[in-house]
Amino acid sequence: MTVDTATVVAPEDTLSAAMKKGSAAEHDQAEGSSFMSDLLGGKMPADGYVAYLRRLRPVYEALESTARALAADPIASKVIDPALDRLATIDADLEHWAPGADQSVDSPAATAYAQRILASAEWGGSFVAHHYTRYLGDLSGGQAIGRILDRNFELDGAGISFYAFDEVGKVKPYKDDYRDRLDEIGATLSQQERARLVDEVKAAFNLNQALFAELGALYPS
Ligand code: HEM
Repeated sequence: MTVDTATVVAPEDTLSAAMKKGSAAEHDQAEGSSFMSDLLGGKMPADGYVAYLRRLRPVYEALESTARALAADPIASKVIDPALDRLATIDADLEHWAPGADQSVDSPAATAYAQRILASAEWGGSFVAHHYTRYLGDLSGGQAIGRILDRNFELDGAGISFYAFDEVGKVKPYKDDYRDRLDEIGATLSQQERARLVDEVKAAFNLNQALFAELGALYPS
């Protein structure tokens, strides 16, 4: 994984703004991946979505075990919140989509992503980058994705608990508060640390992109 070490974070930007701006190009790429386009365009078979969920499982397992390990970390603890945990919802959704099946997966992309998350425990700021990329994404575009899946697969709300954050309450104020917490973290970091954190956000997006590329090859348009 190459990381853009040349990231420059404008000193006047809040950390939340720097993270969003710093990953805007990577976000566009992820949105434009053939897997996502096909999934949202109603062209992906159900098996493709199951393959995606099976890859998300080790990713969230890594996120949530690392969150528990960093519960007292001065940086990471500002965003860690068990109300966000997704592992149980992934398991419930997999049981809906592929009841009784072996849900393990042989995925180099998911393994590399999970390993990078586990390694981020070394510095709370790196873990915050991974936490933001998945959970704020799930609370943002993820909400629309859940609604589209519901419609495309005629689910009537079943099998998409991954997108339902019952313990979070209203999503908009939660996201605003989350960004405030990012900004509080930002105020304690040096410019160099802020750039390092934004670099890790880019790396996290690239790992998602690699996951989509793997799925796109398995389920071509
Ligand atoms: C087709 C796929 C996607 C769509 C349609 C989509 C859509 C969106 C939209 C509309 C927002 C802005 C919501 C707002 O302002 O509240 C957003 C934000 C976000 N998305 Fe995505 N997204 C997609 C894929 C992804 C992926 C793959 C990731 C990373 C794993 C991701 C991570 C994020 C993050 C972190 C934010 C929050 C940005 C911020 O406010 O700082 N998105 N997404």
